[in-house]
Amino acid sequence: MSLTRERLLEEIGIKPLWKLRKPAGADAAELPAAEASAGAAAAAAAAQPLSTPAEAAGPVSEMGWPQLRDAVGACQRCGLCAERKQAVLGVGDEQADWLFIGEGPGAEEDARGEPFVGPAGQLLDAMLAAIDLQRGNNVYIANAVKCRPPGNRTPEANEIDVCRPWLQRQIALLRPKLIVLLGKVAMHAVLNEDSALGASRGKRFEYRDGDLVVPVIVTYHPAYLLRNLPDKAKAWEDLCLARRLMREQQAGSRLPVGAH
Ligand code: URA
Repeated sequence: MSLTRERLLEEIGIKPLWKLRKPAGADAAELPAAEASAGAAAAAAAAQPLSTPAEAAGPVSEMGWPQLRDAVGACQRCGLCAERKQAVLGVGDEQADWLFIGEGPGAEEDARGEPFVGPAGQLLDAMLAAIDLQRGNNVYIANAVKCRPPGNRTPEANEIDVCRPWLQRQIALLRPKLIVLLGKVAMHAVLNEDSALGASRGKRFEYRDGDLVVPVIVTYHPAYLLRNLPDKAKAWEDLCLARRLMREQQAGSRLPVGAH
């Protein structure tokens, strides 16, 4: 039996916290003025060569999905490879408009080879459902680091740095219309931003790589939300912002050539 969205939100205790309190369409109000383009700096900082045996096939920037999957699966660039069961590249629609990026695999993700399949993943699925999205359907889910940090500790800066080229290649292959960063580690990996997450919410950032310019927003990590229920209301605001930016992106991409 498939759950309706209402039932799904009730089931995992999100309702009524995520009920839209503004009138319909209010999420299309003015975007907060702040805007940033730290993505360019992050992209430049991370453009370092990789050198594991699996990359003998060629530079990361020329890899397709199969080469990328093989290279990440064999990666030994940091100590996380020692204890992983498997590297977890990502899951979903490789033509997706939506890209959600988390922190790194936990125990269940390490065992199953898919991101966000534990309790935080159930909440992420409910967050997706709240804006009429579904894992695998126009949605791709990845992590900042591809291997499980022992004991689910936070990945260290050097681990995020050496894993960044894989994530950058995923973004280049996907060419998503919007990136949603789940938590501080993803924010550091993609935007090179270390400010408090609360201060970065509600802003439109940009990820830039060559001709690719993708709007980015930041929200709370689902695992954090499981421990801090009141912040689900803020996460709902962030999802409304994401939905509005996506509508703008989709409308923009339908404009005839030459229209501004
Ligand atoms: N948390 C994450 O950030 N990623 C996962 O894949 C699972 C839990």
